[in-house]
Amino acid sequence: MTTSEKKRFLLAQETIDRKDIAELISWLETDPWLTQGPLTKSFETEWSRWLGTEYALYVNSGSSANLMMYYALLVSGRLKNRKVIVPAISWATTVAPAIQLGFEPIMCDGDPDTFGLDLDHLERLCQEHDPGAVIVVHVLGVPHKMEELLALKGRYGFALMEDACAATGSRYDGKLVGTFGDLSTFSFYFGHHLSTIEGGMVCSSDEELQDILLQIRSHGWAKDLSPEKEQHLVEEFGVLDFNRRFAFYHPGFNVRPTDLGAKLGLGQLKKVEEVIARRKENHRIYQQNFEAAEHFHCQSNHRAEICSISFAALASSEEHRARVAQALEEFGVETRPLGGGNMSRQPFWTKRYEPAVVPMADRIHTTSFHLPNNPSISPEDIQSICDVVLAVR
Ligand SMILES: Cc1ncc(COP(=O)(O)O)c(C=O)c1O
Repeated sequence: MTTSEKKRFLLAQETIDRKDIAELISWLETDPWLTQGPLTKSFETEWSRWLGTEYALYVNSGSSANLMMYYALLVSGRLKNRKVIVPAISWATTVAPAIQLGFEPIMCDGDPDTFGLDLDHLERLCQEHDPGAVIVVHVLGVPHKMEELLALKGRYGFALMEDACAATGSRYDGKLVGTFGDLSTFSFYFGHHLSTIEGGMVCSSDEELQDILLQIRSHGWAKDLSPEKEQHLVEEFGVLDFNRRFAFYHPGFNVRPTDLGAKLGLGQLKKVEEVIARRKENHRIYQQNFEAAEHFHCQSNHRAEICSISFAALASSEEHRARVAQALEEFGVETRPLGGGNMSRQPFWTKRYEPAVVPMADRIHTTSFHLPNNPSISPEDIQSICDVVLAVR
């Protein structure tokens, strides 16, 4: 086989297939409503039914979903203060809303098993700071240790935000992630479990938070509330009938989705179980191989069913990782460091705050690498990728 014919294994693959495109084209030919409308509502209803929460709010990205999640909690007036614990191993827009919205973010180290929040460090931070909120990430789809985290929530009384943007379909003790926190978020960007081109979802089972979300998603107006709730606001604030469609009750954003995205999302939901089964099986093969290898360390949570977006492992040193990257390159496998690594090493953080003492996150930053997991890669291919990597000393 020549180099140009060599099989390539990419980290991210399109989940919108030819059938989805054909369905989209036929739908477009019916001159449908395109901005946020009836299909957005259907997608939200179907998604919350699938997930098992009362409510879901479709927005234009996973990052917007995180921004809405933070802001809804702030607007609700429920937080005892503006301190928020954020995970060092997360994503830029897991942390960014804290800075944008005037919270005081406090960085927590990575857990050696899940790479999410280190629970001992979290508890020390709770004792020291008594935070109003904590945001947990199920890193690359590996569920966090939810029993222990919920016990800390009970003990210290913080609001829990769950960033499940890369974790669709993963379960902890049989329960889907995204159903544990006060609020949770998902992403539908290219390369994620499901794609609506761009898109995200904020989920909860809390009517008051959902009503805030419906308003802050769209300028702060009340048009998306039920007619009774909108009427109530009109009366409470003495709004003239002539003005009621343009009355703004919160300083809102515009992070609305489109019905075109929702149309794609409804199509993606039809294949969600198939996508989950393939990703879980691929992850299982990686895990089995890597757990038996002493020269690598990988994520684990034995109470979880893991539907990962990529498989991540740690090499024994930065030099070892360089040799792994070289072997992967030669075999045609795309790789990268885990997420953005340790967020407290990123310029957006170092420009504002002291460096955090987070040794596990530093180790992940310097030795982690991703391996592809997506439904277009077969179990046989996963095994051959494992054979290539595990041979590297
Ligand atoms: C953990 C996590 N949170 C949030 C996001 C942001 O999602 P989006 O790309 O849809 O804005 C990502 C994106 O990969 C992510 O991995």
